[in-house]
Amino acid sequence: MKIKYKRIAVFTSGGDAPGMNAAIRGVVRTAMNFGIKVYGINRGYEGMIDGDIHKLTSKDVSGVIQRGGTFLYSARSKRFRTIEGRQQAYNNLINKGIEAIVAIGGDGTFTGASIFNEEFNFPVVGIPGTIDNDIFGSDFTIGYDTALNTVIEAIDKIKDTAGSHNRLFFVEVMGRDAGFIALNSGIATGAEDILIPETVTYMDDLIITLKENKRKGKTSAIIIVSEGDDAGGAYDVAAKVKALDSSYSTRVSVLGHMQRGGSPSAADRILASTLGYESVVALIKGCEKDMVGIMNNKVVYTPLEKAIKEPHDINRSKLRIARMLSI
Ligand code: F6P
Repeated sequence: MKIKYKRIAVFTSGGDAPGMNAAIRGVVRTAMNFGIKVYGINRGYEGMIDGDIHKLTSKDVSGVIQRGGTFLYSARSKRFRTIEGRQQAYNNLINKGIEAIVAIGGDGTFTGASIFNEEFNFPVVGIPGTIDNDIFGSDFTIGYDTALNTVIEAIDKIKDTAGSHNRLFFVEVMGRDAGFIALNSGIATGAEDILIPETVTYMDDLIITLKENKRKGKTSAIIIVSEGDDAGGAYDVAAKVKALDSSYSTRVSVLGHMQRGGSPSAADRILASTLGYESVVALIKGCEKDMVGIMNNKVVYTPLEKAIKEPHDINRSKLRIARMLSI
């Protein structure tokens, strides 16, 4: 097979996610197998503009598969939103002889990549990496499984203290626009209610659920609030509940950025390694503006624009399951 590229670059951008290092490793080692040289771009689009671009060897990616975060660092770049920034980034890539890029990140990363591809006709393949799992074109994004397990571990601990003190806990989890972490951690921990951005939250319904729990003899409860819920964050929801019924002893726990860290789970390491490999294969096959993902156990290529625009639908019926099982 004739390989079109001699040099490619890889970078991570947006919110970091456990498994990004494993994905970079997958890209580097696969490319090497095909005789393609790989460059790492530090700090995402920021480093692309600053020319912070360095050759990566096989040794550079040894011992990284189990490490959380991203050794290429990450950033959200305002400068890349300008044509001047993108032109500078393009010049830097061309100066290094780089002919294609692999972008690991979420929708912000892919939006930048898609515009860059259109303007400069520069080949790019995306790998979905975000704990939010909010990308169309892959059943799971890299980092989601690890984050979910981190959240479950934390909520299990909160349940212990909630039970000891007969308290009502509002636990806020990440997911700016998506409730995947909230919904599935809620099912996995038996939370009394789950508030997600994909559905409208009615405070009266929440109060009914809490009253019903009390009537059945429950003396503590966990309400999971996705940070993007329309009723607000966990502090807002707790205040609203207090205003409607002051009888509860309430506490709020915002899990925050701990959800983004930690050693990637087995599922994330495997997904990241597979997509790292598949991104290089996709480039070799001629993909120039696609994201690689896995759907129903099959590798799929989704045009970047579609991956950004289409919503990754959440299974709302799972809310019913969660409510039915947490009586
Ligand atoms: O990575 C996605 C995400 O975790 C969102 O759920 C969250 O709103 C956001 O990143 C926060 O990121 P940062 O604090 O890095 O801006």
